[in-house]
Parts: sequence; structure tokens; C-alpha cells
Amino acid sequence: MEIKEQLYEGKAKKVFATDDPDLCVVSYKDDATAFNGKKKGTIVGKGVVNNRMSNFMFKMLEENGIHTHYVEELNDRDTVVKKVEIVPLEVIVRNRAAGSFSKKYGVPEGSDLASPILEFDYKSDPLDDPLVNNYHILALGLATQEEIDTIASMALKIDQLMIDFFKKCNVELVDFKLEFGRFHGEIVLADEISPDTCRFWDLDTHEKLDKDRFRRDMGGVEEAYAEMMKRIGLA
Ligand code: C5P
Repeated sequence: MEIKEQLYEGKAKKVFATDDPDLCVVSYKDDATAFNGKKKGTIVGKGVVNNRMSNFMFKMLEENGIHTHYVEELNDRDTVVKKVEIVPLEVIVRNRAAGSFSKKYGVPEGSDLASPILEFDYKSDPLDDPLVNNYHILALGLATQEEIDTIASMALKIDQLMIDFFKKCNVELVDFKLEFGRFHGEIVLADEISPDTCRFWDLDTHEKLDKDRFRRDMGGVEEAYAEMMKRIGLA
């Protein structure tokens, strides 16, 4: 397989075409942004952590029947993935109150939730990713009802698999964001699963082991990413 021209550069990744029309290569950067690009910085070594952790999680999920875009890790930062058409939704699952949910609904961070919350945001930088419901998604033509149903059931299954996996690492999965893509008519899990896209709290101390340390200027950002690699057995 030959790597060809750059197709896209996002906030945290670059995507390159290959000589196979069904495949592309994702290259993870150390650039960090928050609040939709309003805060910018660098987390040294983040690209390596996010690439390796995402691939590890995708493999775990594949073993449990979840189809993903993952194909092959090339090196610490670069991975071959299926060339999908991204569904323009940020699919957020919450197991405990935190972040924008706590702010919007007036629920103190760390509060228990009676059941998991599934949330869809319309992926749009100029609009700041507004919250959308099933009716918005259909009316805006972002996905079909069948796709919404598939995404919802996959997201909730992924939630349970990830809760169980991280518990064994003494980590609580507070919430996370997923993105899905269309590949030859099938919905597959795409994008990444990393400390950039998940809230990870130490099960006992509730210490934050994720990007909130960068968003909130808490310090110890690189150390938290490295700790998560240790917890899942990759360092
Ligand atoms: O900010 P908020 O509380 O809505 O974030 C919920 C979860 O989704 C967090 O784990 C966060 O890391 C993730 N997220 C993300 N990318 C975004 C928005 C949220 O990865 N653009």
C-alpha cells in the first residue's frame, strides 16, 4: 500500500489517501484544542497515546462484535483505516454527570445518573456543535432512522464493554464521544477513543486522567495520558 496526498487536516489528526480507494491513513498529532478551537496548545506525546490507545480499544471492541474502521497500525502515530464517510454527529454517552451536562442541567459534577444518557451533537465548528434530537437529525438529513437506531444500539453496547474494560484498570468511564462512518452501506465505529475523547477518573480517588486537565489548566496533562497507557497495559 502506498500513502498518497493529504485529504484533510483536523485539530488532532491528518488523513492521507492511499493507492487503495477503500483505505486511508490517519496520522495523530500532538496539537491540542478545547472549546471548539478557542483554546490551543500541545500535549507532548499525545499523538502516540491516542493512536495506540484507539487501536487497542478498536481491537477489543471488534473482538466483541463491534465493527470499526480499524485496519492496521503502521507505527506509533499512523494507522490504516477504512475510508468511511463520517456521519456528521458527535455521539456522546454519559454515565456520570460532568462537563457540559453538569453546566446545562445544573447537576453537580460527579453526581450519579439513574441511567446512561445518549446525546447527539451536530458536528459543525461554525455552529459550535449544537445538541440535536432524532427529529432534528431526520429533518436536517444527517442520517436515516435506520442509521440512528444502529448508532444508538452500538453506542450503548460500546458503553457497557468500555465500562467493564476500564473498571479492570481501576478507572471509571465518566463519559465519552464517538463518531461513526458509512463504509459500503454499513455503519462502523470511526474516529478515536482516547483521553481526548473520554473522561477517565481514578476509581478510588476520582483523580482526572484525561483532557479535562488541559481544558481546565490543572497541570499534569502528559502524566495523566501516560498513566492511562500504564493502566491499560500499553506502557
Ligand atoms: O463537554 P462535554 O461534557 O459535552 O463532553 C462529553 C464527552 O465528550 C467528554 O468525554 C469529552 O471529552 C467528549 N467530547 C469530545 N469532543 C467534543 C465534545 C466532547 O471528545 N467535541
